[in-house]
Amino acid sequence: MELVTLKDVLGPAEAGGYAVGAFNANNMEIVQAILEAAAEERSPVILQASQGAIAYAGLDYIVALVRTAARQARVPVVLHLDHGTDFAQVMRCIRSGFSSVMFDGSSLSLEENIRLTRQVVEIGRAVGVSVEGELGKIGGTEEHISVSEKEALFTDPQEARHFVRETGVDALAVAIGTAHGPYKGRPELDFARLKQIRELTAAPLVMHGASGVPDEDVRRGIELGIRKINIDTELRQAFVAALQGYVAANPENIDPRKILAPAKAAMKEVVRGKMRLFGSAGKA
Ligand code: G3H
Ligand code: 13P
Ligand code: ZN
Repeated sequence: MELVTLKDVLGPAEAGGYAVGAFNANNMEIVQAILEAAAEERSPVILQASQGAIAYAGLDYIVALVRTAARQARVPVVLHLDHGTDFAQVMRCIRSGFSSVMFDGSSLSLEENIRLTRQVVEIGRAVGVSVEGELGKIGGTEEHISVSEKEALFTDPQEARHFVRETGVDALAVAIGTAHGPYKGRPELDFARLKQIRELTAAPLVMHGASGVPDEDVRRGIELGIRKINIDTELRQAFVAALQGYVAANPENIDPRKILAPAKAAMKEVVRGKMRLFGSAGKA
C-alpha cells in the first residue's frame, strides 16, 4: 500500500477505542521487523524516524526503505518524522515523501510553539501530510530533576485546548509523567491530568516514552484518549540483547546476516506484543 497519514489511522483508532503503535526505525532490519510484525498482526502501523535516524541512515534511504516495505505489507503504514525541532528539516521530510511529521516546539515559548506549529499544519494540509505537535516537555529518564520540577513541565490542560484550537494539529503529544529511555522505577503517570486534557481537546493524544510503561497503565491511557504510542527503547533493548546473545554463543561467526537475524526476530516479537496490547492487532 502507499503511505497514509495519521488522520487515516487515528480516526478509526478513535472510533474503535484503541491506539496505534509508532515505532522508531534507523536501518533496514528495524524497518523490516516493524512492518513484518504489522503484516502478521494485520495492524495499522506508524513507522517513525528521528532527526538522529535521518542523520544516521540518510533521508532518501529512510523514505525508500519504508516505501518499499509498505508496498509489500498490505496494511496502512504512516511514515512519520519524530521530534522534528528544525522547521527546515520538517520541510525536507515533507518534500522527500514523509506522510506525517511531528513539529516539536516544546522548547519554545507557547506563542512561538503555536506560531511555528500552525505554519507546519498549513503547509501539511496543502500537501496532504499530517502533523503532530507537542505541548509540555517530555524529558529523558536520565534527567536529574525533582518531582515538582517534572510536574512544572507537564502539559497544562487549558493550554492544550488553546494550542489545539490555534494550530489545528492532527495529534498532540502530552507530558503526563512518561520519559524517553529506560525507567529506573515505575513511572508515575498523571491520569487525572490526561482526563482533563482529553475533556478539553478534540485531538488524538500521543504517549511518548512508552517503553517500560506497565501494560495496565498503557491500557488506562488508551481508555483516557491516548491514540498513538511511541516505542523506541524496548526495540533497542531487544535488538542488543539478541545480538549479544548470538555473538556470545557463536564467537566464530563472521556473517553479519546471521548476527542480525535474531536481533530482527526479537524486535518483531516486541512489536507484535505491543500491537496486541494497544488493540490495533486485527484492525487492518
Ligand atoms: O524520542 C526519541 C527517540 O527515542 C529517538 O531517539 O533521537 O536517539 O534517534 P534518537
Ligand atoms: P522510548 O524510547 O522511551 O520508548 O520513547 C520513544 C519516543 O517517545 C519516541 O518519540
Ligand atoms: Zn518522543
